[in-house]
Amino acid sequence: MKIQTKITATYVVFELLIVASLGTFTSMRMESYFKERLLDELSRQADLVYYILEKDTTNSFPQIDQQVKLIGGLEHLRITLIRGDGNVLADSDIPLPELTGVKNHLDRPEIQGALQHEVGYDIRRSATVDHDYLYMAKRIRPLTNRTGFASLQFIRLSVPLEDVQNQINRIRSMVIVVGLGVLLVIVAVSVIISRRITKSMVQIARGVEQIRSGDLDVPLVISSNDEIGLVAKAVNELVQKLKSDIVQLKKLEQVRSQFLGNVSHELRTPIFAVQGYLETLLGGAVDDPSVNRSFLEKAQSNLGRLNVLLEDLINISQIESGEMKMSLRYFRLNEFLESVTKDHEPLAAARGVTLTLALQTSNEDEAFGDKDRLRQVFNNLISNALNYNTPGGSVNVVSQKTDRGVHVRIQDTGVGIPAEHISRIFERFYRVDNNRSRSLGGTGLGLAIVKHIVEAHGSRIQVESKTGEGSTFYFDLKSS
Ligand SMILES: Nc1ncnc2c1ncn2[C@@H]1O[C@H](COP(=O)(O)OP(=O)(O)OP(=O)(O)O)[C@@H](O)[C@H]1O
Ligand SMILES: [Mg+2]
Repeated sequence: MKIQTKITATYVVFELLIVASLGTFTSMRMESYFKERLLDELSRQADLVYYILEKDTTNSFPQIDQQVKLIGGLEHLRITLIRGDGNVLADSDIPLPELTGVKNHLDRPEIQGALQHEVGYDIRRSATVDHDYLYMAKRIRPLTNRTGFASLQFIRLSVPLEDVQNQINRIRSMVIVVGLGVLLVIVAVSVIISRRITKSMVQIARGVEQIRSGDLDVPLVISSNDEIGLVAKAVNELVQKLKSDIVQLKKLEQVRSQFLGNVSHELRTPIFAVQGYLETLLGGAVDDPSVNRSFLEKAQSNLGRLNVLLEDLINISQIESGEMKMSLRYFRLNEFLESVTKDHEPLAAARGVTLTLALQTSNEDEAFGDKDRLRQVFNNLISNALNYNTPGGSVNVVSQKTDRGVHVRIQDTGVGIPAEHISRIFERFYRVDNNRSRSLGGTGLGLAIVKHIVEAHGSRIQVESKTGEGSTFYFDLKSS
């Protein structure tokens, strides 16, 4: 059922209940009010009849009967004079000769009432005229001094209730008409109110339908300041969040597919090279002593590069999936730095670059970290500093004590990194100069691994660089 119908139906039911109970209550009240007033009036008229009977001593019985009929006619009353035994003495509606056929009235409720309480009444349908009548009987003091009236004991008056009932019916129909009018107004008002309520709900439903069909760019109109407005606001916020989630997912998806593309490209290069050398060898070069050995060596070095690449990839995926376990320990920093630097002396010599150590930490100073992982970090940073350098240049590895730990720095006088690239060199596969890096055997994974490992130590790798002057990579480690 529509909300509008529900609201209207509720209003209508309530109004009908109110009108019905109000109508019933008022007509009941009116009925008893009119009855009481009528009885009052009848009682006074009965007194008047009695007064006439008592005072008018000159007239004989048939004349009295005439008078009764006259008063009855004038007052629109039926007057009946009844004896103590219940037999009718005179009746304004019945001619004297016919009185003998009239039934005894002793068992009538109003007479019984008058017998017991002096006044009695009854409402009943008259058999002769098809109307309700109100009968009121009053017991009187016997008129002992009047011949023919000594046995008279009750004066009964009755009036048709038609007038009263008509009046009540008129009022009742007025109540109904007014009720219907109010009903119409209520229906109209409730339709307007519920339409206003449902209009904004229908608006929200349409908006949500549009969102469901994929259109996230049209926000719901918040037209009211009530609960419905709150719903619209909540939906809008939800959509906003959904949108940003979608953007993020798309970005992730893009990164993932870029990564896959990069990986396959990087893997293909050495594999193709190995394939090329082997094919040439099989094609006859194997018997040519001037090239066969160098071709095999080249194939071998390409396989070496492939191996390094795969190790880097495994490293990256382990780090990113959180599988890489760090085993953090205290270790002597100077000893460690001397060792990693020494490992790079052959490369430094090959590049014609001077590699120096400037340790401002003492031999007892310890750093806190995973030594094997940190060795990877220094290998990457020192080999970068040597590789992206020029013959005659220098690389300096520096250590310093700080308030909370140690500071390490790899400075070089190499080619430097253009400012616009700095923010990206830590991305996977990112290389400033593809050709140079590739010719040095680089794939652009080194700094990505460095960044992850340094961050796993609760620190951050930073870089300062100037094109043509050199670069400095540095970070802090906790220490004892
Ligand atoms: N000390 C440096 N001086 C100048 N450029 C550098 C230096 N270190 C890194 N770069 C630039 O940053 C890029 C990314 O370095 P990264 O170590 O991640 O990759 P790579 O050295 O090319 O390859 P990989 O280290 O995986 O073998 C390099 O290709 C290089 O262009
Ligand atoms: Mg590198």
